[in-house]
Amino acid sequence: MENQFSDLIILLASGLNQRKMYFDDHPKVKAVCRDFTTRLRNMMAEDDSEDFSFGVYGGKFIRQGKYLVGPSIAGRSLIEFAERLRCGGFVFHLPLAMVDVATFFRLGALQKDRLENLEVAKALFAAHGIDHIELSDPLREEGDRKDRETESFAASDYLATDFAPLLNVYQALYDTVSSNNLLINKNETVDLSQARDSGERLVAASENGAMDVMQFMRYPDYDSYTIGHSVRVAALAAMLGRELGWPNEVLRELATAGLLHDLGKGKVPEEILFKAGKLTEEEMKVIQSHPAAGAQILLASGEESPLIISAAWGHHIREDGRGYPIMPDWYTQGSAASLIHVCDVFEAMTAVRPYKAPMSPRRAFETMLKDVGSFHPQILAALIRTTGLYPPGSEVILSDFRKAVVVARGLDMDNPLVRVTHDPGGLPIPHEDQPAVQLEAGGALCVMEFLFVGINDGGYEQPKRKPKGGFGMGIKEEAPEGTKEGPAEGKGMITSGFTEYF
Ligand SMILES: [Fe+2]
Ligand SMILES: [Fe+2]
Repeated sequence: MENQFSDLIILLASGLNQRKMYFDDHPKVKAVCRDFTTRLRNMMAEDDSEDFSFGVYGGKFIRQGKYLVGPSIAGRSLIEFAERLRCGGFVFHLPLAMVDVATFFRLGALQKDRLENLEVAKALFAAHGIDHIELSDPLREEGDRKDRETESFAASDYLATDFAPLLNVYQALYDTVSSNNLLINKNETVDLSQARDSGERLVAASENGAMDVMQFMRYPDYDSYTIGHSVRVAALAAMLGRELGWPNEVLRELATAGLLHDLGKGKVPEEILFKAGKLTEEEMKVIQSHPAAGAQILLASGEESPLIISAAWGHHIREDGRGYPIMPDWYTQGSAASLIHVCDVFEAMTAVRPYKAPMSPRRAFETMLKDVGSFHPQILAALIRTTGLYPPGSEVILSDFRKAVVVARGLDMDNPLVRVTHDPGGLPIPHEDQPAVQLEAGGALCVMEFLFVGINDGGYEQPKRKPKGGFGMGIKEEAPEGTKEGPAEGKGMITSGFTEYF
């Protein structure tokens, strides 16, 4: 249920973004209005509730006293709208109509200035006939809790969480990729300074070691899959470059390169990029044009860094020279492109997509190691060393049935430093009481199970479809336990001997 709330909030934010680009009656805007209204009604019927509400405080979403990480990153446009309206959140009542949602999106796109106060915002909503979306009073510090959905909330609760320091960085990364996608859609040049700035912030944040790179945030819409992918590739690239001892100025370029590496996908028609069925040969060619298209966009936008341009151009080139695009004779693959290639494949394998189940890092490493000739051996070894089998941010079940989150790699690959979040009965432990435990080889405690974070509350959700089996070296992907459905027909493509997912 919690995930459904998050999905709805992100969907609402994505509707605001779509409306900023298009007009009221555009099929994309209408589709989000319909989707949101239907999903909200279904959820409320299931839940037997009369309204759906959430708060906004300090640039973050809060619901029932909990700080929502994924939506706070992906739903920035909605947070900003709430700030312009000077409200502390939104309450949606039944019978919510599509027209209410459409008007909400329109106001979100057109109301660019901050309103004087909440009363003015409420009057604006009333004047536009939005009957079933209520604006909540601003949230205040502990002791003045007005919002009924957030009554257990106190600012200090969430400020103490691990996510707070990195949230702004993630938001900036997310915004960079998403706004550049919009610019490419409109055939405009991209904002390189924003990308560089975000890259710098990422490297600065990772300096303290507080890099929760594999927070598997949930994204309910396709656009966000591409965005989340680039953000995670950037974070992995910075972490990996640091492990390899590359200097800070290179790390900053690497992070920027990660953010921009799939820029060319903005030129691939969405019908192809998100096609559910098998791609034709012609469509495959269009997809394979994205590295060169990305490099061209960068050049046209004034990018001068060989590292960033070559990473966009060469991130689907294998170490043995295979892959795509076909490069001219003079092309030499640089280390940065090899590094982005490694991060790109690892991220794609371990991330969840609507048409595939995620792979555990262990399995992804096995597959990558068997794909001889694809990856730069030292870079792949460094990735395995850095993340271990349980990358920071992973959730695990310990052998005493307590649930924990991985904080950092431990002394060896399969014994990370964890923070215990739930007792053996599954009850959450308050943040300030969560013990940090360093697992040790041969110790009493070990990891019993890896959970796919963000999927079904840390549990395992059945994937809708599974990609067609077949990694280049004849390795068959096995269906995760309980997977009923067979392989999807031909979605994905052979890139570096492995199936890439879009
Ligand atoms: Fe790519
Ligand atoms: Fe990629």
